Formats: sequence, structure tokens, C-alpha cells
Amino acid sequence: MQGIRKAFPGVLANDGVDFELRPGEIHALLGENGAGKTTLMNILAGLYQPDSGQIRLRGQSVRIGSPRQAIQRGIGMVHQHFMLVQSFTVADNIVLGQGSGWLQENTKQLHEQLRQLAERYGLQVDPAAQVAQLSVGEQQRVEILKAIYRGADILILDEPTAVLTPQEVEELLQTLRALAAQGTGIVFISHKLKEVLALCHRVTVLRDGKTVGTVAVAEQLQSLGSAGCERLLAQMMVGREIKPASWGKAGEPGSLGDPLLRLEGVVALSDRGLPALQGIHLQVRAGEIVGVAGVDGNGQRELEEVIAGLRPIQAGTLRFAESGPVNLAHIPSDRYSMGLLSDFSVAENTILRDVERDPYCRRGWLDWRAIARFAQQLVLQFTVKTPSIQTRAGKLSGGNAQKLVLGRELARQPQLILAAQPTRGLDISAIEYVHHQLLQQRQMGAGILLISTELEEILQLSDRIVVLYEGKIRGETAAERVDIHQLGLWMAGRE
Ligand SMILES: Nc1ncnc2c1ncn2[C@@H]1O[C@H](COP(=O)(O)OP(=O)(O)OP(=O)(O)O)[C@@H](O)[C@H]1O
Ligand SMILES: [Mg+2]
Repeated sequence: MQGIRKAFPGVLANDGVDFELRPGEIHALLGENGAGKTTLMNILAGLYQPDSGQIRLRGQSVRIGSPRQAIQRGIGMVHQHFMLVQSFTVADNIVLGQGSGWLQENTKQLHEQLRQLAERYGLQVDPAAQVAQLSVGEQQRVEILKAIYRGADILILDEPTAVLTPQEVEELLQTLRALAAQGTGIVFISHKLKEVLALCHRVTVLRDGKTVGTVAVAEQLQSLGSAGCERLLAQMMVGREIKPASWGKAGEPGSLGDPLLRLEGVVALSDRGLPALQGIHLQVRAGEIVGVAGVDGNGQRELEEVIAGLRPIQAGTLRFAESGPVNLAHIPSDRYSMGLLSDFSVAENTILRDVERDPYCRRGWLDWRAIARFAQQLVLQFTVKTPSIQTRAGKLSGGNAQKLVLGRELARQPQLILAAQPTRGLDISAIEYVHHQLLQQRQMGAGILLISTELEEILQLSDRIVVLYEGKIRGETAAERVDIHQLGLWMAGRE
């Protein structure tokens, strides 16, 4: 791709980007939130047309007019948000849109073919399963299988590991290595430098829609070591020397206050009707951060939904503060289905939870000036990159959408914060900012329940850590006495 330019109303998302992918190469695309990574790959996958610039495939200049044309040319993309039909089976999703006659195709033969393909690349998935019943990791495997089945020799993955468990990440990296060894060229978008260095041959860094440069990983690792390499890439991304953030003394815990949230023997079912929470005892007091560690899929989602009032409890009790109603902030793990309304503007999204309240609403009328003032301030404070506050939230880049949800929730001066995977998809500086914000909220007396599959994040922020395993709290420890080995055992369900 050469000199690729793509403007949206108010933003130049790609500003003369150069990018080259070789056969059999795993090539990382790095850059801060909003740098233009997804846009560039959407162009390659035929979703957008560039305003100018050239795409050459195997030396030939091409125009990729639609996703269908991209597939015909061997380009497959696994998006940040999957695009599967939930009510269809895996196999139907894979052949969907493949032209006429697929309904008549021999199902048994197709299933067998998919099974073999899946096995060859370590993509465990049942062709007959209904997509709605699959975990996020399984759905991602379906997307990859779909691309391979359709003969992709260029595979694009947009932040594939953000939603995976550590074990699934390992499996995915194996699959990608196997594909690359067969000659598939892979574009790997990620914010996780360690992963990038472990997997990729080359890295191209984007900043503000421009190519900063391309780095050969093995070479740089040899001369700089892994820490030096990470520093180099981080510098290329932000365009200046990175210093450890000095956020002042927000890290000091305040004094412990009253219980704000108390779960006793809470039992709840999963979407599939299976027991997901099996007698949870948990308490969060004002002024503390309680970290819920554990491998994804052990009840995190259900715990979050039960506390947010989105999922019924089968047994046990859930109580908020005794002193009266609690102002709860919810940073949801799924920012699209729970956090934002894509078709509403950024400004509208900032007051979603306060539409009926002063100063945004007076005598039943929305006060747009007050809303705009608030939205403007929030966008600035949380560095949400958006052309304007009138832009629709669905147009924001992945990380900027997350920042918007965070800003809205933290601005409500919450007493209790339910933070589920709060830094998923954020770039390094945004993660630091969010961590600082959470620590500051704690210092001001908020109680925080932090549900995160990033163990590092749990260790950095929590005062107390509990481990969730198969719907139960397997262990609990004060942060200052934490024993990582013991945590690991609990996370694996052992004593
Ligand atoms: N369809 C669209 N309409 C309007 N603006 C868009 C659209 N798609 C992307 N943008 C804007 O283009 C810029 C680049 O977005 P892009 O999604 O490419 O960033 P990214 O590098 O993938 O970021 P992230 O790491 O947060 O996912 C952002 O400012 C975004 O708001
Ligand atoms: Mg993106």
C-alpha cells in the first residue's frame, strides 16, 4: 500500500500511509488509539475506498471495490467486533454469501472438510454449533476458519488478543505461526508490545495517520534487547521520549469506609442456563479497590451483570450501602452492547445516564448548551479523539470509544465503581491515565470492584484480590501479601 489517504468528516484518518506485507510474514501494525490502523486495514479489506494512493497485490495495481472483491483476491479480515450471524451455525456462517447453491451443499461433507481444516491449524470449533452459543474465543476461531476456508493468503487480525484468555492467546499465536509457515501473510494489530515482539517479523508504526517507520524485529531484539525494543516502539508511537508517568500521590489509599456492596451466597445462571455463579461472597468498602482476578469465562461476565442489575439472581442476596442508595458507575466489558449508543452523538452519549437530571434537563427540556459544555470538557479531559462532539459514537476508533465510556462514568462522582476490563483496547498512555483515575477515585473515597483478566492490572491497582474460578471465589489475599504462585494455582482451580 502506497501513499494511502483517507479522510472522514473532520479527520484525516490516513495521511499518505505506506505499508508492505510479504508472503509468510507476520507484520504488526502499531499506533496509539485513533492512529489509523483499523482504517488502513478496512481499505485493504474493501470496506472503504481510499481518497488517493495505490494498492499493489503481487506487483499488480488493484482496486478493491468491496469486501467480496477482497475475498476473491485472497484477503480476509477478522474485525475488532465480529461480524457473524448469531442465529446461524458455524458452517453456515462460513459458507454464507459464497454464491448460489450453498444451501444444497452436502452438509456432512462440508462439516468434515471444516473439521480437517480446523485441526490442521489448531482451531478447535464445532461446525454444527450455533454461533450464539459460542464464547468470544470460539467466535474468533470461526472468523479465522472462514477466512482460511475462502482461500485467504492475506489475513488481517484487528486486536485479536484483546478479548482472549492467556491460554487462548497462546493457541492463537501457534495458529498464526502455522499459517505464516504455509506462506500466508498476516497483519496483526495490537497494543501489546510483548505479544508483538514474540510473534511478528516486522512492525510498522502509525502516528496521526502517517507511517513513522518499519522495524525488523529480530534485528532490533538482537541489538536492543526486549526492553530496549519496547521503548523504541513506544517512542515511535507517541513521537517523544517516554517517561514513567508521574501522577502524584493518587496511589495512596484513603481510609476504609462503610461497605458499599455486599454479595452473600449469590447464585446466577449463564445465558445458556448453566450455573455461572455458584455462591459468591464478596464485599467492597468505600476507599478500597477489590480486584477480581481469574481466567475469562469463569463467571466474570455474570458477576458484572448481576451487580449492574442486568441479570437476575437465583439465590443469595446482593445489597448496596446500608446508608442509602449508591451512585454506581459501570464501565462495561462490552462497550458496544452495554456502553454506548452507536447512532447517538458523542455529546448525547456523555449524558446517557443523566438525561433526566439537572443541569441537562430543565422542566422536561434538554439544555443542549449545558450538554455541549459538559461533553466538550469530558472529551478534552479524557483525550477522546473525535472531530466534534456531534460525531456519532459509532465512528470513534475502538480505544476512543472506551475512553468516552470511562469519562462519562467517572464524571458522575460515583461512590461505587464497577470496572470490567476497563483498559481493554487502550494504548499505553491511555491505560496509565485510566489507572491513575481509578486510584484517584479510590482516594476520594469511592469503592471499586475491578474485574480484569489482566493480572498485571489487578496487581498494580488492588488493595485486596479475590480469584474467581468456575463461579466461585477460590481465594482471597491482601495485595501487600500477594503470592503470585498461589494466585496462579487459584486461577487454575487448585489449592
Ligand atoms: N467510518 C468512520 N467515520 C468517521 N470517522 C472515522 C470512521 N472510521 C474511523 N474514523 C476516524 O478515523 C480515525 C482513525 O480511526 P481508526 O479506527 O483507524 O484508529 P485505530 O488506529 O484503529 O485506533 P484504536 O487503537 O483506538 O482502535 C479516528 O479519529 C476515527 O474517529
Ligand atoms: Mg482500531
